[in-house]
Amino acid sequence: MKNNDFKDVVFNRRSVKEFDTNVKISHEEMLEMIQEATKAPSSINMQPWRFVVVESEEEKAKLRPLIRFNTRQNDTSAAMVLFFGDMQCHEHAEEIYGEAVERGIMPQEVKDNLLGMFVPSYQNASKQHMNDIVKIDSSLAAMQFMLVARAHGYETNPIGGFEEDQLAEAFGLDPERYVPVLIVAIGKGDYTSHDTVRFNAEKITTFK
Ligand SMILES: Cc1cc2nc3c(=O)[nH]c(=O)nc-3n(C[C@H](O)[C@H](O)[C@H](O)COP(=O)(O)O)c2cc1C
Repeated sequence: MKNNDFKDVVFNRRSVKEFDTNVKISHEEMLEMIQEATKAPSSINMQPWRFVVVESEEEKAKLRPLIRFNTRQNDTSAAMVLFFGDMQCHEHAEEIYGEAVERGIMPQEVKDNLLGMFVPSYQNASKQHMNDIVKIDSSLAAMQFMLVARAHGYETNPIGGFEEDQLAEAFGLDPERYVPVLIVAIGKGDYTSHDTVRFNAEKITTFK
């Protein structure tokens, strides 16, 4: 059931850790949600996020030993969506900016200028810096995915407790290239989650 109530989608989101095991999500709808999540912004629009949707019993069994205390979400969710960041995302610059020129939304010389500036900066970036970039970008997509999921009538739980050094390889990705960012459990929520505490904005904000 779709939910177009912005306030409800955003402010009633909770981390839900147990799901109705009868509810699966079609590939069509999952792709629609991923498409909507990737309207998120990314540094120089390089879109480094990559997704592995773990939904079958066999693949969930593979994930189970890698997610520490988060097995309940794995066992009951419709899917565990693994968010990875592509450390070599600049290889797609031509494809992305070429399409922008083709579609008439960017002049050729703007593309040439941007790529001339930014592609070398990505190529020469340290591993740590690239790691930071792809994690920031992919985290924005993950947040958007969680809200999009609610708009589609699903609940989610972001999961950072997993074996970072084993996740890529376990799912057939080159661990040098793809860094794991977050896992999002998704499904039809099976309980009403309790509210959680937040700081007052005044406490954590300074105006200068
Ligand atoms: C980066 C990140 C990692 C998290 N890792 C886990 C986790 O491993 N297991 C879990 O149950 N919840 C995890 N959470 C959920 C948080 O505990 C939860 O978002 C927080 O307590 C606030 O509750 P709320 O999401 O219901 O508002 C994670 C959240 C974030 C943002």
